Amino acid sequence: MTDHRIDRRKFLGTSLGAGAALLAGPALIGQASSASSAEASSGGFRFIHLTDAHVQKKLGADRGLAKAFEAANSVSPKPDFIATGGDQVFDTMKQTEDYSRELFGVFNGVERDHNDLPIYHTIGNHDIFGWAGMYGTTPEHPSYGKLMAREMLGLERTYYAFDHKGWRIYVLDNVQPGPNRFYQGDLDPAQREWLEADLAAKPASTPAVVISHIPILSVTIYSERFFNEESLTYEIANGLVMRRGVEVARLLAQYNVKLALSGHLHQRDRIEYQGVTFICGGAVSGNWWKGPLYGVQEGFGVVDLKSDGAFDYAYHDYGWESEAAEAQG
Ligand SMILES: [Fe+2]
Repeated sequence: MTDHRIDRRKFLGTSLGAGAALLAGPALIGQASSASSAEASSGGFRFIHLTDAHVQKKLGADRGLAKAFEAANSVSPKPDFIATGGDQVFDTMKQTEDYSRELFGVFNGVERDHNDLPIYHTIGNHDIFGWAGMYGTTPEHPSYGKLMAREMLGLERTYYAFDHKGWRIYVLDNVQPGPNRFYQGDLDPAQREWLEADLAAKPASTPAVVISHIPILSVTIYSERFFNEESLTYEIANGLVMRRGVEVARLLAQYNVKLALSGHLHQRDRIEYQGVTFICGGAVSGNWWKGPLYGVQEGFGVVDLKSDGAFDYAYHDYGWESEAAEAQG
């Protein structure tokens, strides 16, 4: 199996020097710090799930992301890598090419200057250029859709898998075009076929993690705002959660997938279904940089994967205070 991630540092010819001095940053607070170094050194490892940064040119988003990266780099024991969960920028789907490239440039600049860990990117709906068709952007544009994010984030493919210290990590792209909407949560047939084949080829004893932007399963959708009083039915757009989520969950359960991480909803939940744990991992940007959302602070996930297939997950509030006037604690 090949690693489809391009080394963007080599790709861009950038230096790692700037991030190194930040490793002595503030100590990790919260539950994540309780994970023992003994666990991390017994064959397992730690990574950071950093989702929904939503870099924009207001509300100090660049400063907030820098603070999140510095906190992620200061976690002890040190993580092996960062996996983003999508929506690195906000919002290329509805913006011009120049503005969209500028946003990715801000993200990359902050990442270059404040992160020293390897980074694996997941693509989110807001990272997809031009699907809303605004400013005259059409599918004929040379950077249309996911091409810009692939170029700017250094991704050969938007879905891929890699092995790390006895675990297999799947990064999925479950943001797909929809006939009547800008996007829908689903896996295209080619990706589903690849996923099934790769899971089947994986040694059964190898535990796995799946990362996708849109949750495969989530309880947050059972909200009154989605309830139709006439039909007494929840009307849940599949832009919120992935279509065929239960079917995909059953597939994952067959192949020793232990954990499925997502972003997108900027909320936190944790579901166990057929032995697979599904965690929606909050958001670096909280309520789109306007403060916490439904009590969920701006944060990221600290994930410890053990050599025996067990894992620990803790959500880390990295201490950002919103610069929005209407922000609430
Ligand atoms: Fe988001």
